[in-house]
Amino acid sequence: MAKVQSFSCTACGAVHSKWSGRCDACGEWNSIVEDVPISAGPAKKSLGGKRGSRMILTDLRTEETPPPRTGSGIEELDRVLGGGLVRASAILVGGDPGIGKSTLLLQAAASFARSGLKVIYVSGEEATAQVRMRAQRLGLSDASVKLAAETNLRDILTTLEAEKPDLAIIDSIQTMWADNVESAPGSVSQVRAAAHELTNFAKRKDMSVVLVGHVTKEGQIAGPRVIEHMVDTVLYFEGERGHQFRILRAVKNRFGPADEIGVFEMTGEGLAEVANPSALFLSERDAPAPGSVVFAGIEGTRPVLVEFQALVAPTPHSQPRRTVVGWDGGRLAMILAVLESRCGIPFTGLDVYLNVAGGLKVSEPAADLAVAAALLSAREDAAIPSDTVVFGEISLSGALRPVGQTENRLKEARKLGFSQAIAPTRSKLGSDDGQGIRQMPDLTSFVGEIFGAG
Ligand code: TYD
Ligand code: MG
Repeated sequence: MAKVQSFSCTACGAVHSKWSGRCDACGEWNSIVEDVPISAGPAKKSLGGKRGSRMILTDLRTEETPPPRTGSGIEELDRVLGGGLVRASAILVGGDPGIGKSTLLLQAAASFARSGLKVIYVSGEEATAQVRMRAQRLGLSDASVKLAAETNLRDILTTLEAEKPDLAIIDSIQTMWADNVESAPGSVSQVRAAAHELTNFAKRKDMSVVLVGHVTKEGQIAGPRVIEHMVDTVLYFEGERGHQFRILRAVKNRFGPADEIGVFEMTGEGLAEVANPSALFLSERDAPAPGSVVFAGIEGTRPVLVEFQALVAPTPHSQPRRTVVGWDGGRLAMILAVLESRCGIPFTGLDVYLNVAGGLKVSEPAADLAVAAALLSAREDAAIPSDTVVFGEISLSGALRPVGQTENRLKEARKLGFSQAIAPTRSKLGSDDGQGIRQMPDLTSFVGEIFGAG
């Protein structure tokens, strides 16, 4: 039987059926190598000829104690980590350049040092003097964090081996350079190799490691995505550059719930924790205006109230605009289609703008009804009463589906002074939830009750 060969590019990972000098996927030269499959039995002579050894198999009954954790004292960070930093774990913190990753991690480094951990902060982007100046500005100069400016991975690992810290922060993974890999820092193979070395080292040496990764414009340099699978926890730091709010979101966590968020505010003295995000997200709300609706959402384990804002205006274009910030564009299209075909309310010839105030990205389908309410309110130029929160999922038939954690949503709404709620029928209410809640079976009855005949 003919041997099937395959080749892949060490720069971009593209798979090729034959070798060539240049990868036609990414344009890199001399980056294509043959894929050598691993098989049972002895390795080739060139690889040392060693035989594979048999694994020890266990069963599912083996009892594991929960991993030991250290809290940083920054509650918003500890919650996102699942209750603190787990020993010997690897964490990736991704985010746009300039969003505040280095600031957050310097503050975290100082807090963990104050909790008794030995912390080393390695900056590959800034000189130590710059990091020290930032520490001074943040009031952290007295924290016992060890600092180095270095990009050579071998030197970093040698130092970590000798110093044996509890936590090492690598800022950023894209500046790291492994001398055994023949491509430039920031390329996919360098970023992968450096992340692989560092996470393995952390596991072997019982040290935790935080890798900082810049989200990059596609194609420029490797983004944090390419190493997400290697680490235990993936956190993204989000926010609008012009806004002071920053959200730390867990998108993967082997040691805690994913989808948890921590909310911070960027101030002149670094990041401040926001203990009550609902109050913050609603703080800029003016008098009740058409197009503005408060959604009672859940982010991770916490209820969060946010304002959805819609603007609907006759379009001067042949193709009307659909612009969304903080919510899924496809989901908006679906809700517009349901409004049109189930309720007979067309948006043809109208530009539609939808925005989540405060820079939060909402992904819960529970926000469907709030989106529909904002769109209708803007279109009909009729404000929803300002003491009302809205939530519920919309199905393609136009029916409203109850959503999880209704009690928590209503409790948070009451806490912030909202006395009315609009929700789907059969929502699971708590004992003191009856008052002020209007339950509706479908979008058509919602349109009829809230906006008159529709
Ligand atoms: P930085 O942490 O350097 O971002 P990243 O590491 O994600 O690239 O933060 C950059 C911005 O934060 C910078 O524009 C200045 C601002 N900033 C403050 O507003 N207050 C502060 O106390 C600090 C340290 C930074
Ligand atoms: Mg930085």
